[in-house]
Amino acid sequence: MSILITNIKQLLQVHDSNVTLVKGNDMKTLPVLENAYLYVEHDTIIEYGEMKYCDGLEAETVIDATGKIVLPSWCDSHTHMVYAGDRTSEFVDRINGLSYAEIANRGGGILNSAKLLQDTSEEDLYEQSINRMEELIKMGTGAFEIKTGYGLTVDAELKMLRVIKRIKQESLAKIAPTLLAAHAIPESYRAKKDKYIKLITEQLIPKAAKLNIAYYIDVFCEEGYFDINDTEAILKAGLKHKLIPKIHVNQFNILGGVALGVKHNALSVDHLEELNEDDIKALKNSDTIPVALPGCSYFLSIPYTPARQLIDAGLPIAIATDYNPGSAPSGNMNFIVSAACVKLKMTPEEAINAATINGAYAMGISNLYGSITRGKKANLIITKPLNHYSEIPYAFAHNPVEQVIINGQLKDINNPEENFRI
Ligand code: NIG
Ligand code: FE
Repeated sequence: MSILITNIKQLLQVHDSNVTLVKGNDMKTLPVLENAYLYVEHDTIIEYGEMKYCDGLEAETVIDATGKIVLPSWCDSHTHMVYAGDRTSEFVDRINGLSYAEIANRGGGILNSAKLLQDTSEEDLYEQSINRMEELIKMGTGAFEIKTGYGLTVDAELKMLRVIKRIKQESLAKIAPTLLAAHAIPESYRAKKDKYIKLITEQLIPKAAKLNIAYYIDVFCEEGYFDINDTEAILKAGLKHKLIPKIHVNQFNILGGVALGVKHNALSVDHLEELNEDDIKALKNSDTIPVALPGCSYFLSIPYTPARQLIDAGLPIAIATDYNPGSAPSGNMNFIVSAACVKLKMTPEEAINAATINGAYAMGISNLYGSITRGKKANLIITKPLNHYSEIPYAFAHNPVEQVIINGQLKDINNPEENFRI
């Protein structure tokens, strides 16, 4: 299998050397090759350059991309896309004035999704989840982190992990699995939170580690959920089994989760709608990347992550969807890139960096994904004809994607019969 894309108006995120992260001021630069070609063999980017050097190259499939932009597929580093059903009734409750916290306090929210998931068969859960993912591949996402956290029992969390594993084996997309059993305290453990934490640290983590499915350990570090001590106990248990921390912090309250994450070498600290100087200080000189989730801020009408403060302090930032049934029921990365510009005041260059190379870093895969580099995986977006890449965030809620190449395979996203499974 070989694919040659010719006459590319703008080829984005081109790096000759294998860059794996961009931070601070460097995020303002998006390397672009004008009037370019790109050559792919099997699942790998082999060559690219200006059109004048394309002479003599042949391929089984040739795509004329005149007027179009080619870029690495979006890397969505924070999703909860394995869930059952929806929470539309809570959506209406919120429109009518209830807050996210009020809904959670009366047994709704995450517990509501957990009940639904526990009553859903593994097969049904798999079908619902992979269908969601296939819709998003068509919108240009090529790699997804996926969390558990709607099981909240040993059995149901393991069921989620098996579903994620099956998606990982069967989907053409790249998948990074995360164990988030500490997502909420189940009703039956309300008065004995410590027992639930023990269940996670002593039973679930060892079992998950034995199955060798999850890469990451996550905790919802938040008032009413898991405090700093709970979070540290769970991170330590995860680390003992080689699960790397990647945690929910500062969504509503600052508990010190950022410094804790840095202390335990978290790959990422996600949300940060609330942020203080100590958090920024903790992140400096660390390898931990902050991840902003503007879809969650939009949907819950909570503050947006102060991305400018982070970038202007010299830090990197990634953006992701947080795709989940409660706080962000959309996995559309094109919208997230736009929201990053409009609401987080990031430039198009910064937003595209945050959604490609830095998104890949936030899921530990940026050595092979997130940029146009020889030897990296061929996960690519070919846009509709556009005047400039800034149109991607500018035309918010439009779909700029015309074709995708995923794992080296060209897909017709307009054909309802198209198959995105291996
Ligand atoms: O990242 N904050 C915790 N978890 C999700 C929301 C989950 C839900 O409401 O179902 C989030 O926003
Ligand atoms: Fe989340």
